[in-house]
Amino acid sequence: MTTVQLTKYGYSGQLSLLSPGPYGNDIGLLYFDVYFQTQQIVRFKIYDPKNERWEVPFTNQLPTATSKPNILDYDVKFTANPFGFTVVRIATGEILFNSSPSTGCPTNGLIFEDYYLELSTSFTVSNPNLYGLGERAAPLRLNNSMTYTLFAKDQGTASTENINLYGSHPFYMQLLPNGNANGVFMLNSNAMDVVLQPNSLTYKIVGGIIDLFIFTGPTPVSVVQQYAQLIGNPHIPPYWSLGWHQCRWGYHTVEQTEQVVANYSKYGIPLETMWNDIDYMDAYKDFTVDPVNFPQTLMFNFVNSLHENHQHYIMIVDPGIHNEEGYAPYDDLMTLGSFITTDQGQPLIGKVWPGSTIFPDFLDQKAWDFWQQQLQNYHDMVPFDGVWIDMNEVSNFCDGDCSDSNSKSGKMMSMFGSFDPNNPPYLPGGVSLDQHTINLTAVQNGNISVYNSHSLYGYTEGMATVDAVHQILGTRTTVISRSTFPGTGSHNGHWLGDNESSYNDLYLSIPGMLNMNIFGIPLVGADICGFNKDSNSDLCGRWMQLGNFYPFSRNHNSFNSIPQEPYVWGQAVIDVSINAINLKYTLLPYYYTLFYLANTQGLPVMRPLFMEYPTDANTYAIDTQFLVGPSLLVSPVLTANTTTVTAYFPTDTWYDFFTGSPVAQVGKSQVLPAPFDVINVHIRGGSILALQPTQSYVPGEGEIPITTHVARTLPFTINVALDSTGSAQGQLFLDDGISLDTIENGQYTVIDLQAYYDSTLGQYAFESSVSFAGSYLSNATISTVVIFGVSEPVSNVYVDGTPSTAYTYTAEYQSLSINNLVQSITSTNLITWN
Ligand code: NOJ
Repeated sequence: MTTVQLTKYGYSGQLSLLSPGPYGNDIGLLYFDVYFQTQQIVRFKIYDPKNERWEVPFTNQLPTATSKPNILDYDVKFTANPFGFTVVRIATGEILFNSSPSTGCPTNGLIFEDYYLELSTSFTVSNPNLYGLGERAAPLRLNNSMTYTLFAKDQGTASTENINLYGSHPFYMQLLPNGNANGVFMLNSNAMDVVLQPNSLTYKIVGGIIDLFIFTGPTPVSVVQQYAQLIGNPHIPPYWSLGWHQCRWGYHTVEQTEQVVANYSKYGIPLETMWNDIDYMDAYKDFTVDPVNFPQTLMFNFVNSLHENHQHYIMIVDPGIHNEEGYAPYDDLMTLGSFITTDQGQPLIGKVWPGSTIFPDFLDQKAWDFWQQQLQNYHDMVPFDGVWIDMNEVSNFCDGDCSDSNSKSGKMMSMFGSFDPNNPPYLPGGVSLDQHTINLTAVQNGNISVYNSHSLYGYTEGMATVDAVHQILGTRTTVISRSTFPGTGSHNGHWLGDNESSYNDLYLSIPGMLNMNIFGIPLVGADICGFNKDSNSDLCGRWMQLGNFYPFSRNHNSFNSIPQEPYVWGQAVIDVSINAINLKYTLLPYYYTLFYLANTQGLPVMRPLFMEYPTDANTYAIDTQFLVGPSLLVSPVLTANTTTVTAYFPTDTWYDFFTGSPVAQVGKSQVLPAPFDVINVHIRGGSILALQPTQSYVPGEGEIPITTHVARTLPFTINVALDSTGSAQGQLFLDDGISLDTIENGQYTVIDLQAYYDSTLGQYAFESSVSFAGSYLSNATISTVVIFGVSEPVSNVYVDGTPSTAYTYTAEYQSLSINNLVQSITSTNLITWN
């Protein structure tokens, strides 16, 4: 480090090369800027002042700091020779990041070459608890002796834990033994390896710049919030997207698709959204329907009939546009010229389902217009409600480039000279980067090399798609994307891709879902009952139970597998499925409120146990159980033909969610009964959930099983779980569930729920009151208030001051139920008891 000075926003300085790095083209002079972005977020940017290098657009939502916050939770220190920097948490002196190589740690310092960047941090505690670095199918807590590759790839879960899957998320959280957490984000879209060793973490990146953000937390939840502040808070999805979805690859005709919908009704299983995979297309071409098997009029009528029943329809769209003159989308895209090109300016030819394809270039605004026009045209034919965007890593069946003239051997690499971007000298993951994707010499928007932008393809397609559908529908929509990048969650949901119908993949769906919540993509789920291979009744029943806790719950199957809709396995699985979906629908007000909190405060919807109990070391590696928000603990069965489950209960007050029975022993694991029709769910003392129970809803003559449209209107049951002091809190967010920007426009209501013991009056009280009264008013009522943790029999109940006898006390479960209420959910309500 040759200079460093204080600036208005932090520090800036210069670095000069001390000794050459391993692969040549070292950049001799570097500048760095340290931005004190917020009290808890500090940014380190190290770049080449002479040659502009690739920097990720879109992701960073924070304006570049021009001044310093008055209070900082961190301090930054430098070492000059060799250069290093340290970020310290002021309150505790904990070192959050330390890149100085002089501390006896076997890492290099900073290496900054044209095609290779390296930066390390050394840990103060060996084998720290680390989480994040996706996308992978692996246990939640990272392995401290593993190299994790980050590069978007069409790669299913049937692989080993260090293999990179569909998205790239260069973010990790560190949790220290005292419960303090911090986050680290490398804002870089190039291929990279992150090498974990017991005492260090090393980034090995093949391009771009160092743009590092440290988040000081100190709680794990606040780390997620600070990260979301940078990359964008999650979007609030339409209410219906949280309902039950059915899909498969291999619904061969519109009649077969309709039959599935009819079967759902026949067996009394709720269905919110029906999906079609690529089967519906004419020769797998986007924005077409197969004229024989999916004729347009029948499709139009089918989707309209779904809408008449308040059901929804989503279809798949792949990015590859078939390369065929006369096919309108191809002609339109060629006319606009907004496709990915070779470095010679020719359309880059790939091969996907329709055969030869070109790829819209979503880094070019014209491609967004193109996309909107195509979706509009298709919507005129088939009025879909959401879009499933697949194959957007971008996937390509011939590695590199499929055209003869651009074939591998003949490819020209003028932009890179003799350097082969598909095989840079340091090769993250150890396999050619163009495997299953397009040539990395390809070009976007005139001069952006796919070598740099590769991992952004799904992210940018996702933004373009949501933008288009918002314009088409004028309402919220659901766009589920396979490839993701930091920031995806503010526009899209995600499914975890091609898993297997296996118990191991049932389990892996939990860390997969929890990681996406850390990455700010809470609308997530795995293919329920498993994609590849055949499912079976035990597995599918268990997956229906677990999967109805995913925020995004969709049964999806691959082409050659036996059917796995919940009604094909016999009555036991049908019953389990109906119960599981009813439970999800009962909990929807809570899920939806969690999405409101995600949207407004960046809070994770689904949480690993360590997030709520960061000082409890027993929770650090738990990924077979999870929390919904802060309040519900789910302990699913994850093994074959099993009727018990071992569940850990952190030290706290817990109640069986269904009976209210208090959990006697906490701070340890317990074996709980879990027969096939049971999933163990516990509610945390101190919480209040507003629920809309659906179990007793009976559809009228000619009506279909319940949809979220109906579920939203049912009377509320307020579930109060008292903590050891007799108090509890909760919140309920209400809006119309579908309009755009309801929060920005104040079209919503927030209701505060609280319970407490009033020692002066010697009574307990539950109160609900409106804390934000916007222009949306629900006319739903509260019909029941259930209180868990009522240890003494009750002799008086008052509803708004009037004595009531409509209550039942169950001594066995210490639970009080106050019934037959007709209280407006949007009024102030007071219920007392003693
Ligand atoms: C790959 C996707 O991951 C899978 O879900 C889909 O069924 C197939 N493509 C066919 O479209």
